[in-house]
Amino acid sequence: MTTTQPRHSRRTEILEDRPVNLDGFVEEWPEKGLVAMESDFDPAPSVRVEDGRIVELDGRARADFDFMDTFIADHAIDVETTEASMAVPSDEIARMLINPTVSRQDVLAVTRGLTPAKILDVVKLMNVVEIMQGMQKMRARRTPANQGHSTSARDNPLQVAVDAAEGALRGFAELETTLGVLRYAPLVAIALQVGAQVGRGGVLTQCALEEATELELGMRGITAYAETISIYGTESVFVDGDDTPWSKSFLASAYASRGIKMRFTSGTGSEVQMGNAEGKSMLYLEIRCVLMAKGAGVQGLQNGSISCIGVPGAMPGGIRAVAAENLVASMVDLECASGNDQSFSHSAMRRTARMMPQLLPGTDFVCSGYSGVPNADNMFAGSNFDTDDYDDWNTIQRDLQVDGGLRHIREDEILQVRNKAARALQALFAELDLPRITDEEVEAATYANGSEDYPERDVLEDLKGAQSVMDRGITGLDLVTALERTGFHDVAENLLTVLRQRVSGDLLQTSAILTHDFVPLSAINDANDYAGPGTGYRLQGERWEQLKKLRHVTSAENPETEVS
Ligand code: 5AD
Ligand code: CA
Repeated sequence: MTTTQPRHSRRTEILEDRPVNLDGFVEEWPEKGLVAMESDFDPAPSVRVEDGRIVELDGRARADFDFMDTFIADHAIDVETTEASMAVPSDEIARMLINPTVSRQDVLAVTRGLTPAKILDVVKLMNVVEIMQGMQKMRARRTPANQGHSTSARDNPLQVAVDAAEGALRGFAELETTLGVLRYAPLVAIALQVGAQVGRGGVLTQCALEEATELELGMRGITAYAETISIYGTESVFVDGDDTPWSKSFLASAYASRGIKMRFTSGTGSEVQMGNAEGKSMLYLEIRCVLMAKGAGVQGLQNGSISCIGVPGAMPGGIRAVAAENLVASMVDLECASGNDQSFSHSAMRRTARMMPQLLPGTDFVCSGYSGVPNADNMFAGSNFDTDDYDDWNTIQRDLQVDGGLRHIREDEILQVRNKAARALQALFAELDLPRITDEEVEAATYANGSEDYPERDVLEDLKGAQSVMDRGITGLDLVTALERTGFHDVAENLLTVLRQRVSGDLLQTSAILTHDFVPLSAINDANDYAGPGTGYRLQGERWEQLKKLRHVTSAENPETEVS
């Protein structure tokens, strides 16, 4: 028997084949927390203070607080101002956020007294353009920046080093790595740091790992910051990870004690994905995370769903909620590394639309992980943008005259830093008696795209070398000495200068990055002063000249030639 299929139009067939239809979309299910930001199950805003203590928060009496409520009530909300702030109507606060004549400081004076439900009530009133307007004023650092990944599908330290060098030269202010095989971490973290300092002195690096090892590498000066310290919006999910707001705060203090920059990570969708959203909207739970981070005293937050982006990405209004969570971090005065991180869509149009709310207003780090390697090598599971997108990114910056933190670099300069990073790592490994890097590998690394372009390494030897880095107690200073001894004086000097920063503690300031001349640029000395048209950060002068350059631009004087 034959079944007859209903006939489709040619148009339907074409649409069916479009990449966007490979993406997953889901209906709202508020009872399970599968709803972006508009849920009848979210609490109504309220606060009550007695004897200098918050005794009621968003409709819950202190006796019924879970540990997030307790932590937020005791550490994140200003008890002195909360009753006055909560009395300001939500639409008035939303207007303050977009009104250029209200200063950032004036907004902060109100937001520091708000509860999670009240903050949700405010941002729910804002459409994406208003959210962007809010972000333009509220991001902490005046100058926007970008953050990149450098990883390798084979955990090849050489690949990580040269792609870090190229990424640093292209403009990433922070670069991070993670591993397929965790035991490789010490070698790869060293490679990342050395490569980054070849590309551009002052770039900060991190290696995302299990917490104890990550802290140890930081304390030894093999990494410069930490970011993937996860927090969650419900007590049940938090405890599932064997953690509490207090344990995370203790970890944060351990980093701070050594002057190591650090921020937490959270984002919409994690609680649903981990099966316990307690019936609350994704954004409500994320706002609890933002306030928890604030209460812990960390300088910032990586948010914007991050590794859970598939969840809000599948929901109606989900990408708007993601933009709102970035705004919430900025509106309580935290540094925000704003997502555009894990890949979430097959559609180039959706990928681009998703980053507009961060790229257009500018954030502290527009991407909290642009893949500085081809996505096939991205061990953070692939990013919304990768090396194939470099020219598109640069063109969009030029088209709209916005600074997304990157720039076009001529190939000869790229080859030069890649080669130098490879040689520096080769010399360093030899000097420290680590597994050999051959001249053939150096040559391959200079011209490579992805891990398959490199000769294979002896993984067992590398893992032994990685272990010996830990056993011998090698520190950042040992790397400096080895680089100096092998003739890489400028790289040694760059690394030493980055390490020296932790003694001053300047990298603990909100939104701190290091400029080309190693001056910390943060919310202290580069405070966002946006106050309407013609004010705040403007892409102009020398930086705009850099961003006008692309791979192919026809010369006006001589149309037969291209300038680059
Ligand atoms: N909530 C909490 N932590 C997250 N991470 C990524 N997304 C989230 C989120 N939504 C952390 C995890 C992950 C790393 C890349 O960042 O620790 O391994
Ligand atoms: Ca990141």
